[in-house]
Amino acid sequence: MALLIQNGEIVTADSRYVADIWCENETITAIGKNLPVPQDAHVIDARGKLVFPGFVDPHTHIYLYAMGTYAKDTYETGTIAALCGGTTTLIDFVNPQRQEGSLEALEKWRQQTVNPCCDYTCHMTVSHLDAQIENELREVVLQHGITSFKIFFAYKDFLGMNDGDIYKTLLLAKELGVVTAAHCENAHIIDIRQQQFVDDKKLTTEYHHHSRPPILEAEGTHRLCVMSELIGGEVYVVHLSCEEALQKVIAAKMRGVNIHAETLIQYLLLDKSHAELPNFEGAKYIMSPPLRDKKNQKILWNALHQGFLATVATDHAPFDWQQRQMGKENFCNIPNGIPSLEDRIRLLYTHGVNTGKIDIHRFVDVASTRAAKIFGLFPRKGTIQVGCDADLVIYDPHVEETISANTHHMNIDYSVFEGIKVKGRCHAVTVRGHVQVRDGQFTGQKGIGKFLKRQPRSH
Ligand code: URP
Ligand code: ZN
Ligand code: ZN
Ligand code: ZN
Repeated sequence: MALLIQNGEIVTADSRYVADIWCENETITAIGKNLPVPQDAHVIDARGKLVFPGFVDPHTHIYLYAMGTYAKDTYETGTIAALCGGTTTLIDFVNPQRQEGSLEALEKWRQQTVNPCCDYTCHMTVSHLDAQIENELREVVLQHGITSFKIFFAYKDFLGMNDGDIYKTLLLAKELGVVTAAHCENAHIIDIRQQQFVDDKKLTTEYHHHSRPPILEAEGTHRLCVMSELIGGEVYVVHLSCEEALQKVIAAKMRGVNIHAETLIQYLLLDKSHAELPNFEGAKYIMSPPLRDKKNQKILWNALHQGFLATVATDHAPFDWQQRQMGKENFCNIPNGIPSLEDRIRLLYTHGVNTGKIDIHRFVDVASTRAAKIFGLFPRKGTIQVGCDADLVIYDPHVEETISANTHHMNIDYSVFEGIKVKGRCHAVTVRGHVQVRDGQFTGQKGIGKFLKRQPRSH
């Protein structure tokens, strides 16, 4: 059905004005003042509200296996939670195990993408490389339209690769015109430090961050920069958490390295003291890289404002409270990751825009436009103009709500943001013109989310 959104204040990464938006056949077909109102159109009154392009989360794990267990959201619960929080496109990961082919893992992942309610795509993790995998990766890019790779400097015995194979992956990525995302931490040293803590019976949650200090993230980030500088390909640092790593990114940018960096909403608002909470409460806050000293937050906000950081993602990794118990006796066994897919936009708006740390256009850029550009989804996603997908967030900035596990839609029995007040609520959210959310609640159609095929960069 055709949809008319009237009198909203449209805010994109570079413009702000009041107008009506007309959506037909899943796209935006007209923007203007006082557009005619056809009789059968669905009309949303957006007066007094902000209209943002649908938000893009470039780093989420819906189907995630780690430490012998699977994260709890399904495509249905995860995409509903995303939408209720204003995210209309998410990028997940296909993580082939070392013995598994890329195509086999892709097929397994596809079987999980049941009843998606928002649009989605994935990054293809490269966890080992040989001639067979190289052929499969070409097919992944050229036939399946997955135009971003993921590599891990971290997780030595799981998804991590050695420097030689990472270098070869970056060469292949450059040849194919795809961007490579990287988890930058020094796996070998972390492994030894963890073993030392275990030997010394230092097993509580705070030793997680002691085992992976900022300089090990900086070192991994620098290694990525060096390889990228030699090769000339395009790289993307995921979940950058600290000043030390940021400095490596800025220095590399100055040398002309084609590098983007992402931070997470968790690093902007939470710090290592949360992971140090007693009685295993800290287990809710275990992720890698770890939450850092609070002094980093101001630096990360400034870097967002200045444009040194490109995006704010969630790295949503929904392991529930029972799964966290796996590490009760030893922090090394806590499944890593902090669920946050639903909360990113409202937290970023409240703590970024409302406090003046970033302006409203930067907000749209770091939460939508920039990720769409880097990952080959722009201008279909990431902005509001004639011809793009009708993915819109009609945001009521006056409503105040409190985040709680009792009311969120993520399939998780706690919230690391429990009790935090946020300004604003999604009055309505559309995906290609389908109204999926009203007043913060999912009211739409399950299964309408589409896999987004992308094109590699042309040389
Ligand atoms: O702790 C985290 N970040 N878990 C999810 C997997 C990853 O490293 O991104
Ligand atoms: Zn990671
Ligand atoms: Zn991740
Ligand atoms: Zn409302």
